[in-house]
Amino acid sequence: MRSPISRRNFLLGSGAAIVAGGLHLGTEAVEPLQMRSRVTSYAFDGPDTRGLVSLSDNAPPPLVRLRQGEPAVIDLTNGLDDYTTMHWHGIRLANEMDGVPYLTQFPIGKDETFRYAFTPPDAGTYWYHPHCMTMRQMAHGLTGILIVEEPRDIGFDEDLALNLKDFRLDDEGQLLPFFTPRGAARGGTLGNTRTTNWKIDPRYDVPAGGLLRLRFVATDTTRVYKLVLPDLPGKVIAWDGHPVNEPVPWPTEERPLWVGPGQRVDIALRMPDDEGVDVPLSHSIGRRRLALARLRSVGKSMNRDLAELRPLPANPLAQPKLAAAEVRELVFGWSPDGNGQRNGLCGSNAYSFWSIDRKPWPGDAVENVGPVAELELGKSYILRLRNESPNLHPIHLHGLAFLPVRSNQRPLPRNWTDTILLMRNEIVDIALVADNPGDWAFHCHVIEHQKTGLSGYLRVS
Ligand code: C2O
Ligand code: CU
Ligand code: CU
Repeated sequence: MRSPISRRNFLLGSGAAIVAGGLHLGTEAVEPLQMRSRVTSYAFDGPDTRGLVSLSDNAPPPLVRLRQGEPAVIDLTNGLDDYTTMHWHGIRLANEMDGVPYLTQFPIGKDETFRYAFTPPDAGTYWYHPHCMTMRQMAHGLTGILIVEEPRDIGFDEDLALNLKDFRLDDEGQLLPFFTPRGAARGGTLGNTRTTNWKIDPRYDVPAGGLLRLRFVATDTTRVYKLVLPDLPGKVIAWDGHPVNEPVPWPTEERPLWVGPGQRVDIALRMPDDEGVDVPLSHSIGRRRLALARLRSVGKSMNRDLAELRPLPANPLAQPKLAAAEVRELVFGWSPDGNGQRNGLCGSNAYSFWSIDRKPWPGDAVENVGPVAELELGKSYILRLRNESPNLHPIHLHGLAFLPVRSNQRPLPRNWTDTILLMRNEIVDIALVADNPGDWAFHCHVIEHQKTGLSGYLRVS
């Protein structure tokens, strides 16, 4: 068993990581993107909220745009007192660039810089967030959208990315505790200030009669969004980054689209011809319909037609061989012990409520914790994900994409994903080719669940 990464190993390893990045053709020539995490304040809807975490002052973390197949270098400097790391959610990259403390890198200390270098193999909508002090730093704002552009133009007039995230604020607009034992042991603690790109029901001007690409990114630590879209010509074109193989029904009030924490959905929408039409984008909570954002048609109609869009090119993913695939079962449920987590420099938690295969994750920094499954490089597998609880769990796998193949409860379109929302007591089979070597974090993306035991990793070697 490999022991977790110590500072010494990390120092030895980080040189190797930069060389590894350098092996990608032309990385040395790439201008590094500079990121510096910091504490800042921001006014959502009243007084300044203090103690937020972002990469810029008084503003949300920026949208990052990369190009498919082109090397990227990102220097992250930790401007916080706490340790941190950055994870590139959904990007299939080399394990040492994955940003998981102890598993793939040593946590980044105050004023230290870590160089992330990778070449995104897939186009689509992804995102980034810390993976050390995750609960605090994400709940306080550090979640950003990462778009990997297709090599050629698809034909949209406008591209609008929407970062959906709640904050928990008191009457004075100040941050409330992001963790509650009651929430963590159940569905998670919900925020009370629902934002889109850190704004409350923002309005965006879009050309009338134009074709809009909408990218919804659910970066909240807890909320499952039940998306409702207006009755306009449009379609769901991508799911969790990848172009859809099988159609996803248009989200309506009767049949909203469930988007769990960590998930993304890309929509092509044709705007109304008339100027000044208000187009609401919303989600439903119980019987209530709540605004996420609104679009307003502006200018003279562009008279576009959805049929003018080029199809999104498929990403280079290996098809699992279902007949030959070995089956591994993984059980997600409550925790048999209440010992809590010892997370080293990345925070500790006094509780453990959740488990994988009845073992709660003991904490990132604990030594000699084996993988929940060992997969042989290059082979196909079916992972049988069994939710033994009444709560929903968006189960996320790093470093690999997978296909849902069946559920005991519902039809599941076979669309590539990195995060699958398990319903109450649901059993879902997912299939993948273990084609990326490394130790890949595997956890629930309700961060309170992740941090109270519902976490582990898969080893591909
Ligand atoms: Cu987006 Cu391990 O997480
Ligand atoms: Cu991830
Ligand atoms: Cu969960």
